[in-house]
Amino acid sequence: FTVDWDAGHYDNGGYEHYLLKEISEQPDTVARTLRGRIDDRFHIAHLGGLNMDARETRSFRRVKIIGCGSAYYSGQIGAQLIEELARMPADAEPASEFRYRGPVVEPDTLYVTISQSGETYDTLAAVQELKRKGGRVLGIVNTVGSAIARETDGGIYLHAGPEVSVASTKAFTSTAVAFALLALHLGRVRDLSPADGRRVCEGLRRLPEQIKEILTLEEQIRELAIKYADAPGMMFVGRVRGYPVAREGAQKLKEISYVHAEAYPASELKHGPLALISPELPTVAVVPDDELLDKNLTTLGEIRARHGRILMVGHRTSEAADDCVVVPKNENELDPILLTIPLQLFAYHAAVALGRDVDKPRNLAKSVTVE
Ligand code: AGP
Repeated sequence: FTVDWDAGHYDNGGYEHYLLKEISEQPDTVARTLRGRIDDRFHIAHLGGLNMDARETRSFRRVKIIGCGSAYYSGQIGAQLIEELARMPADAEPASEFRYRGPVVEPDTLYVTISQSGETYDTLAAVQELKRKGGRVLGIVNTVGSAIARETDGGIYLHAGPEVSVASTKAFTSTAVAFALLALHLGRVRDLSPADGRRVCEGLRRLPEQIKEILTLEEQIRELAIKYADAPGMMFVGRVRGYPVAREGAQKLKEISYVHAEAYPASELKHGPLALISPELPTVAVVPDDELLDKNLTTLGEIRARHGRILMVGHRTSEAADDCVVVPKNENELDPILLTIPLQLFAYHAAVALGRDVDKPRNLAKSVTVE
């Protein structure tokens, strides 16, 4: 079962594909998600839609995040943001797994569901299961008035505008931004200092301009996509902040180019997947300039030693990689948002090079409203 959209309703803005339009819109869509929500005086986030006062906000001890596909991967970024900024235990889980395993729902857990469409059946069913068991459920949703927006207790709208292409791009980055705001909010009613709050607020404000800078790399990324597109498969690796980015990069590549792609935490390679590494299976490595840089560069050396080709996406070039895409640096916690964008462009241009139906890939629907 699929929900069809009529592309005629939406202007493609002169772009060849909606996907490229939506990737290119991200400086604006991220700015819209942020608009009116940053308080520069107290370095807090204004999130009136949560419908929770400070006392209730402080009553939660942990956060459980639920979504499907790319929404789930953006939730992994969200869980890391909440752990880092609010120092609350947080994790993300696919909605289908959550709802079928008879979850224990606890009063001191804040549940956050994510959905671009707001209509994904598994995510909606998870919301309903949570509500039945008395859970407090928020929704991070793009589509105003959608089922998940209606059934949750409160939430954050993305304001990213309609996302037409089946592959999610601007909703992904806006969701990660919404999580940064939520993490700031949860952090500032706990122990996040005003100085750290200010650092995060300033980092968030820098994002739209930095995304514009990344978009200027499109031609370089197009050439790299053409270079790597004939590989039968690709490995994506990242550590901690880079890992959800790697998962999303692999997801984008497989869903629109049909190139097999696997994502692994970088350290897991040696526990099995390293056996796959050869010149025929290139690796995309997500390597931010953070405290794990040296460990990531060691992993690149291990791949190199097995004659694997490496495309590194990070904040510097490295001789350990065959090719490097260098993006602007933000605060460590916010870097995943920026590192995702070259991988969107990479998947897009690989799909174009392979002649795929970019906006409507085979076997997929924009909104999955059945089990
Ligand atoms: C993203 O590129 C995918 N098409 C897919 O994984 C999607 O994110 C998932 O189906 C969830 O959709 P939702 O955000 O509308 O709930």
